[in-house]
Amino acid sequence: MIPEICTKTYTLNTGAKIPAIGLGTWKSTDEECYNAVKTALENGYTHIDTARIYGNEESVGKAINDYLKESGISRDKLFITTKLWCSECKEPEKALRESLNRLNLEYIDLYLTHWPVAIPKADVLMPINDEGKRLVIPYDEWNYIDTYKGMQKLVELGLTKAIGVSNYNIPKLKKILNDKEIKIKPVCNQVEMHPSLPQIELIEFCKENNILIQCYSPLGSTGAPILENEILQNISKKNNISPACLAISWAVARGTVVLPKSVSSKRIIDNIKIVQLDENTVKELESIGIENPQRVGNPPWDVKINLFEDSEVY
Ligand SMILES: NC(=O)c1ccc[n+]([C@@H]2O[C@H](COP(=O)([O-])OP(=O)(O)OC[C@H]3O[C@@H](n4cnc5c(N)ncnc54)[C@H](OP(=O)(O)O)[C@@H]3O)[C@@H](O)[C@H]2O)c1
Repeated sequence: MIPEICTKTYTLNTGAKIPAIGLGTWKSTDEECYNAVKTALENGYTHIDTARIYGNEESVGKAINDYLKESGISRDKLFITTKLWCSECKEPEKALRESLNRLNLEYIDLYLTHWPVAIPKADVLMPINDEGKRLVIPYDEWNYIDTYKGMQKLVELGLTKAIGVSNYNIPKLKKILNDKEIKIKPVCNQVEMHPSLPQIELIEFCKENNILIQCYSPLGSTGAPILENEILQNISKKNNISPACLAISWAVARGTVVLPKSVSSKRIIDNIKIVQLDENTVKELESIGIENPQRVGNPPWDVKINLFEDSEVY
């Protein structure tokens, strides 16, 4: 199999198109991030994922603006996402205007509420308690529905083309979808997803409700541990492709957006090249996580419930 540059797009429930593969930028320092975004845009990517909390919006924006100037390509050919940080849940307009200033962009294509928790405003973006847990405002004082309601006006203001959520499980999505004051449905749910965490029910629910899944940590996050999996390695050897190419191709074959992060030019260029997988291969890879599900990202929020598992959300 010979990997080819992925040009696939999906149509969001707003009618806008989103490229299937986007560059992840978490943990990329400013300089790494500038080079990574510039390399990505020069090599076929049109979709970049960042967030307020990553601390790199300025370098992401600089790379985008330099690329647009040098290439002559118009802004509307790119899809840029950033995320509302949990300490800014009560002031989404202010937060987005500040993100746009850092990015030096007039609008973004997608604004996500980063986590379904609000944390108190403090000198630091992530205040923690004596036990090292991240402080959280109790749900009966402020919750993810309040946050999402406040984000709706950002679309009307033209600051973002669309809004969506991240790290939501099915019960929380149901609450959002059933709330009468919510008129703008989330276009997507960005969640951890890879062969060790295939989340089949969540995919089904989102498909039924026209909410696109975006896979974060598609390689298992830092150090790409998923690529060590024996089943994945055997299938990639059989098809003469790299384990990373297989994991990324698998996400696209399942109809999801995928956001591999890299700061290495070679990997960035490789990660947008995918192959078409048949249904048996997709299922074989899903079996890895069905048998032994593994989540790599579950931050220590100071909440009594598990954000991902709990069904009685509030
Ligand atoms: N919404 C959320 O809460 C949330 C949470 C986590 C992540 N995200 C988003 O999703 C993106 C991706 O997730 P992630 O950063 O956690 O991890 P990831 O993309 O699964 O993995 C990144 C790791 O894989 C390595 N890597 C990249 N390409 C490779 C290749 N072809 N072969 C071998 N190793 C490779 C990278 O190293 P090098 O950089 O050295 O290449 C890095 O160590 C993030 O950057 C962020 O934009 C969102």
